[in-house]
Amino acid sequence: MMNPFRPTAGATPPELIGREGTLDEFEYGLQIGSGAPGLLTIITGARGIGKTALLSAAQDKAVQQGWIVVSETATPGFIGRIGETMRLHLEELGKGPAGRRITAVGVAGFTVTTQLPPERQVDWRRLGNQLLSLLAEKKTGLLFTVDEIHSADRTELSQLAADVQHFIRDGLPIGLVFAGLPAAVSDLLNEGVATFLRRAERIDLHAAIISDVERSYASTFREAGISISDDLIQHAAKATGGYPFLIQLIGYQLWRQAEINNMALKEKNVLQAIDAATRRHETTVIEAALSTASDKDKDFLRAMAEDDGPVTAGDIGKRLNARSNVVANYRARLIAAGLIEAPAYGKVDFTIPGLREYLRKTNPRERH
Ligand SMILES: Nc1ncnc2c1ncn2[C@@H]1O[C@H](COP(=O)(O)OP(=O)(O)O)[C@@H](O)[C@H]1O
Ligand SMILES: [Mg+2]
Repeated sequence: MMNPFRPTAGATPPELIGREGTLDEFEYGLQIGSGAPGLLTIITGARGIGKTALLSAAQDKAVQQGWIVVSETATPGFIGRIGETMRLHLEELGKGPAGRRITAVGVAGFTVTTQLPPERQVDWRRLGNQLLSLLAEKKTGLLFTVDEIHSADRTELSQLAADVQHFIRDGLPIGLVFAGLPAAVSDLLNEGVATFLRRAERIDLHAAIISDVERSYASTFREAGISISDDLIQHAAKATGGYPFLIQLIGYQLWRQAEINNMALKEKNVLQAIDAATRRHETTVIEAALSTASDKDKDFLRAMAEDDGPVTAGDIGKRLNARSNVVANYRARLIAAGLIEAPAYGKVDFTIPGLREYLRKTNPRERH
């Protein structure tokens, strides 16, 4: 049997741990069709928490129900790419007026027009209408999924929202599920870019429960004939913190250790696996997340890392010897970047496991 774990962003894990029932409303929506609340859903959560994996699960469910799925990442020009995919589907269904390409991407990647010019917008909506009417006759529908919505161009997003709202008003079987970092998504909705999206179902993802990870590891390893004690499974599960990316990383390393140790995991092997996984987590998730942080941002984060749990802005201000408005400014920046969150009023905490420990060991901030 091959290593089933998938420690790669966006990869489908062997088991979606702790997500039972999260897509119930969406699935119900697929059955009722047009206008169902679950057909408008927003998935939010920290990096590596499993947003993309859940988005894929939603797509699979839609496909099983015979729906057409158009999935995009919200990089510039996504609205044009959605249009192009719709056109291809219409063609495939043999009803294509087809006509010109609808993509908004300019010549040879030189100019990238993020917004469709007015005449193309009309095309886009007309295409959508045609495709949706056809699918309505077949008693199925069309699902758009848009990942990484936090980086979406505001104009493109409001255009998509306006069109989807229009389709819903016309009673057409349209669904829209998108995913992004929580703070950025809240900002987006509060800015009034797409007021109607505020009514969307919210699925806010958190870490899985450790005992669920334990159960999943136990069955995966037992079924593969890998021997490991209950205590060691418990230890490994705890080390994941229930954080999906670490569940995959640690599982993957455990499996590798088992392969080189005659399918038997001893304490030494488990510790080695956890160690390797932690290092990998640091170089992928943590360093990538920090790559966009400025030196001042990092000072703020290091001041936070002096505590073992949530910190107040006041304490950070004292540690940095900074004014409250400066602290508030960095706090807001870091929340929007998805590095920290506000678990309780006035306090902030890290969103990614291991970030605190990483900051402590890489370069301890000097006390002022
Ligand atoms: N519920 C889950 N249980 C176990 N592993 C998961 C779960 N959700 C996601 N994963 C795994 O965690 C990693 C991160 O998932 P991903 O969907 O890319 O996160 P995000 O999009 O939130 O950054 C991937 O390796 C994925 O296979
Ligand atoms: Mg993702």
